[in-house]
Amino acid sequence: GVVYLSDYTPPAYLIDQVDLHFDLDASATQVRTSLKVRRNPQNSQSNPALELDGDNLELLSLRLEGEPLDQSQYELGEDKLIIAPTESPLPEAFELIVETRINPAANTALEGLYDSGSMLCTQCEAQGFRRITYFPDRPDVMSRYTVTLVGDKSKYPVLLSNGNLVEAGETDDSRHWARWVDPSLKPSYLFALVAGQLVCQEDVYTTMSGREVVLRIYVEEENRHKCDHAMTSLKQAMRWDEETYGREYDLDIYMIVAVNDFNMGAMENKGLNIFNSSCVLASPETATDHDFYNIQSIVAHEYFHNWSGNRVTCRDWFQLSLKEGFTVFRDQEFSADLNSRAVKRIDDVNILRTHQFAQDAGPMAHPVRPDRYMEISNFYTVTVYNKGAEVVHMIMNLVGREGFRKGTDLYFARHDGQAVTIEDFVRAMEEANHIDLAQFMRWYNQAGTPVLKVDEEYDEQAQTYTLHIEQSCPPTPGQTEKAPFHIPLAVGLLDMQGDDLLLQLAGENAPGEARTRVLSITEARQSFTFTGVNHRPVASLGRGFSAPVKIQTGYDDEQLAFLFAHDSDEFNRWDAGQKLAMNILLRLIEQFQQKKPLILDDTFIHAFRKTLLNPRLDKALIAQALSLPSEGYIADQCEVVDVEAIFEVRHFMRQTLAFELKDEWLQIYEANSSDNPYAFSAEEMARRSLRNLCLGYLLETEEQAMFDRAMQQFSRANNMTDTLAALSMLANYAIPERHQALEDFYQKWQHDQQVVEKWLAIQAGSRLPRTLRHVKKLMQHEAFSIKNPNKVRALIGRFCAGNPINFHAADGSGYQFLGDQVLELDSLNPQIAARLVQSLSRWKRYDEKRQGLMKQQLERILDKEELSKDVYEIASKSLE
Ligand code: ARG
Ligand code: ZN
Repeated sequence: GVVYLSDYTPPAYLIDQVDLHFDLDASATQVRTSLKVRRNPQNSQSNPALELDGDNLELLSLRLEGEPLDQSQYELGEDKLIIAPTESPLPEAFELIVETRINPAANTALEGLYDSGSMLCTQCEAQGFRRITYFPDRPDVMSRYTVTLVGDKSKYPVLLSNGNLVEAGETDDSRHWARWVDPSLKPSYLFALVAGQLVCQEDVYTTMSGREVVLRIYVEEENRHKCDHAMTSLKQAMRWDEETYGREYDLDIYMIVAVNDFNMGAMENKGLNIFNSSCVLASPETATDHDFYNIQSIVAHEYFHNWSGNRVTCRDWFQLSLKEGFTVFRDQEFSADLNSRAVKRIDDVNILRTHQFAQDAGPMAHPVRPDRYMEISNFYTVTVYNKGAEVVHMIMNLVGREGFRKGTDLYFARHDGQAVTIEDFVRAMEEANHIDLAQFMRWYNQAGTPVLKVDEEYDEQAQTYTLHIEQSCPPTPGQTEKAPFHIPLAVGLLDMQGDDLLLQLAGENAPGEARTRVLSITEARQSFTFTGVNHRPVASLGRGFSAPVKIQTGYDDEQLAFLFAHDSDEFNRWDAGQKLAMNILLRLIEQFQQKKPLILDDTFIHAFRKTLLNPRLDKALIAQALSLPSEGYIADQCEVVDVEAIFEVRHFMRQTLAFELKDEWLQIYEANSSDNPYAFSAEEMARRSLRNLCLGYLLETEEQAMFDRAMQQFSRANNMTDTLAALSMLANYAIPERHQALEDFYQKWQHDQQVVEKWLAIQAGSRLPRTLRHVKKLMQHEAFSIKNPNKVRALIGRFCAGNPINFHAADGSGYQFLGDQVLELDSLNPQIAARLVQSLSRWKRYDEKRQGLMKQQLERILDKEELSKDVYEIASKSLE
């Protein structure tokens, strides 16, 4: 069945109070749920039935106002329990008690209550609560929860749920119990419980109004030393949300629990966040800069949800971006404030361009607010999250930082405790700023990446410079025609020296004071004329990536090199370098296809050298600037993806740069070595990233001396960033050191799951020809388990989505492998299977032979009996 946004109706009944009683047992947990039910005044149906959702539940008993219900009074279906007494109508308000039995140990889907190692934990977003008990499992039903947990003292010494611990005790020698009361109103998807042998690190935080909040991070004993960074990050996030949004934490305790088996990154359950271990645990010896950075932002993301998601939640799941787009935007700004803003922007735009633009151009394209779904889990996407964040970012570009704060103040004040829609958010922005965002709403409802075609016209006589801008948006499934978007385009003009001009638009009287201006584009075609321009300038368009669009300018190499050298906007300077590299790559790909010799232009090498040696540039930005576009992003720029050509040409370019600038790479590599103990600071991260970039290029010379350097770094580094950088580079060369390093690494780290995941991923991502055989062998290794999502992502996911030359092997072996894995995973964990299958969805982009091979696997998957709707939705849409 397909669910449509347009079918939304308010629930017939509300639940004011939920009392849950859990008798915990790994294979047979009994749940007694008491619900205080009341008619919803918003719903005008007369005498409606009470509809409860349920999935994989064993119903033990049902009582209404204390009276057992007999079978004529309810209807029990596959996924619904409908209470509709035939004799008398349901009362206006009543109590319903439901008893169910569930089996956490058999729950391999990791939704609802499941076991992870020795602990029991939950994941309820989006629709997991219905796998625990019968309930109107929809976010517009908000209730107060009391939870009593009873369990074995030795197996489950720690018993946690949302809110405050109010009472605890022992039932007998072997069992104990704890009662938690959450004073806040919440939807069922924010419910959580955890039971297990856990230790915790504790701290306190004093809020801006002076209240003390206890902070606890619960982990298994062996991870006790990996909590410091998450704790620091949490306190930073709490302070930042007070300072930036005026938002304070509301409960007396905030808990985070690390679990090893988790489908996603983390979950913002009220007062009891549950995290994938890989997104919270870190020590310098075991985690990379990238991990530290990620953890800081995910801890903040989940914390920020306390306001944007929990106190103000979503009316229905079509509104998912209301909380996710906004919260990603909040965590992006947080990271930008705490680290380097430009580097953060580049990272975020890279994600958007490589993954979201690709999604927009494929069969799974959907608007930031989808209007239909089969399985909501499939819509936790880069579009809803990351494009959703860009849409919020654009609102800020339009109303300014202060106006944006006024808008969020109004939004939080007006909707605290409510389940609302994206319109409610946008209306608060409009009313707080006296603007009209009606056209802007199209960003939420139309899918696809808009294209801006920009032509310039310089009039020497009149000293005017005009930008002629044409916008369009390609069709996407179900949406052939698109109406024009409201696009904020930040623009600057560079004079011949590369300095920014003061900008004055025609018709304005006051002299221009700004060097960057945000043009508001609303029409399909629109022109903007700047006056007082006495030389032909070079326009810097979309500064700071002011809108998630593709900008086509037709700039030649020289203009791009000029912007790459001079643009005052750090993001656009980087972007010009990427565009320059891309143009060259695309021309070389043509040469390669015509079997012509490949030659790399001197101007490009020169531009690289100048950037590498520029002492005034931030090292992290140099590293970003000198990284070539990924194979995937290059592929997206090609008419038909030529897997081998892209691989060979990119490799050629790296190798040429390696030889041409060998002395420079060496010099910068040496100059940036350090014996300092590890520190997670912008400066130190920048130094390491530049140094490792140099090492990467040096290895492309394939000289023994360089391999020796890498081995040295691998074995002597005092932190995982440098160790892993060296190892992942070495893994790409068929040299004896490769085997040795991988072996040593495993011997040293086999006890540490987070590190073992890295070890698997590095091998799965190797460009060496026999990688698939190796991956298959690793699936038999003790380090691998098909039931653990992190291991699946590391080994199978990395191979299928991060190793194009091997996954797209011409014989179809990679596709066949993917088909095998999806079929196996579909029965175990549909969410993970559905993610994997997406690697086949863009089959139309490849040559005919590969198209046929990919389609064959999609058809084979669709042939499986009892295929999950998660996988069915993706596979069937891919073939449409
Ligand atoms: N709300 C969580 C977050 O973004 C993600 C939960 C995703 N769950 C799922 N079943 N897809 O922080
Ligand atoms: Zn989120």
